[in-house]
Amino acid sequence: MTPNRLVDIPWAQFSALSVDQKAPYLAQSDGTPFHTLFAQQFDFALLDRLTHLATEIRGIAKTRAGMGFLHELVCHKRAMLYFSQPSSRTFLSFLSACQILGVQTGEVRDTATSSEFKGESREDSVRTFSSYFDMIIMRTPEKGLAEHTAWMLSNSERPIPIINAGSGQDQHPTQSLLDIYTLVRSFENIGGLRDRTVVFVGDLARGRTVRSLSHLLTNYPNIRQIFVAPPQLQIGEDVLANLRGKGVAYQLSDDFRAAIPEADAIYMTRVQDEWDKEKGDSARIDITRFHFGLEQLKLLRPHAILMHPLPRREEIAVAVDHDPRAMYWRQMRNGMWIRTALIATTFGCDKRIHEYHRQNL
Ligand code: CP
Repeated sequence: MTPNRLVDIPWAQFSALSVDQKAPYLAQSDGTPFHTLFAQQFDFALLDRLTHLATEIRGIAKTRAGMGFLHELVCHKRAMLYFSQPSSRTFLSFLSACQILGVQTGEVRDTATSSEFKGESREDSVRTFSSYFDMIIMRTPEKGLAEHTAWMLSNSERPIPIINAGSGQDQHPTQSLLDIYTLVRSFENIGGLRDRTVVFVGDLARGRTVRSLSHLLTNYPNIRQIFVAPPQLQIGEDVLANLRGKGVAYQLSDDFRAAIPEADAIYMTRVQDEWDKEKGDSARIDITRFHFGLEQLKLLRPHAILMHPLPRREEIAVAVDHDPRAMYWRQMRNGMWIRTALIATTFGCDKRIHEYHRQNL
């Protein structure tokens, strides 16, 4: 692990940069992330590297000897899981990823159980964690907190990596990594992730997973994006401006039924009413047309896949789960492998994994 460049720049200057301009400050000298904060840090080469590594790890983990090898890799490191916002999948898959690599973990899942309850600032809490741990994996409701934490720790005596496990309504970079891994795996034997149409459905205005994935998809050739939502929940203009800037074809629609037969992948999302400005705002929006059930399944092409970052509510009927195109449970498990790959890369043991894979599989 080599130090990142955040020591070279004052906070006021760094925070004023665009996300694209910030990305190089977060990288190690070989281009891999030191801090993982934004989807914009990942280009095609890095995504290709991580998805291949995840597949190698998945193969190695199939045997007891392989698990033993993985378990020794980073057993000298400790990671803090700091989740001040609810999570099942992200928390458990990061915990599992750490366990696979032998990384010891600590956790705070409710700030009412930490000294924040006594008035300690987030900054002081994080500095405390950095005294005991070698990495902080954090989920927060506040946009930008992971970024400020990364800068602060880089400029402290304990410059340890931060992984953003979801920040505000803005970014969920590791969710988009697992989404990309799922898409890559799903299409690897039928032409790859290129010349595809991805249809995003639901609460696109407040879904950080959609924002991050929309960006990552721009790394792959000719991926058209269709955003299907009621007008109140339609995707933000900043996401569309990014697509225009990159020459990516996109379309806005509120006609889900018409979009289904066009899709190679459908990415459903739930209504994120935890972000309602007034209680009950979301309940006043008619979302009944943005539901995927057995009727919609008939319109889905044979090779297409149905994704969801989960948790779900009513937007996908449970009856759909048994269809082989329902990819969300495998998508969730992919999160464990790609997060293992990210942690291994951050700690610089990816080469040892390649070597083991080459010699044993
Ligand atoms: N997809 C996702 O972030 O799920 P959790 O909120 O359960 O972590």
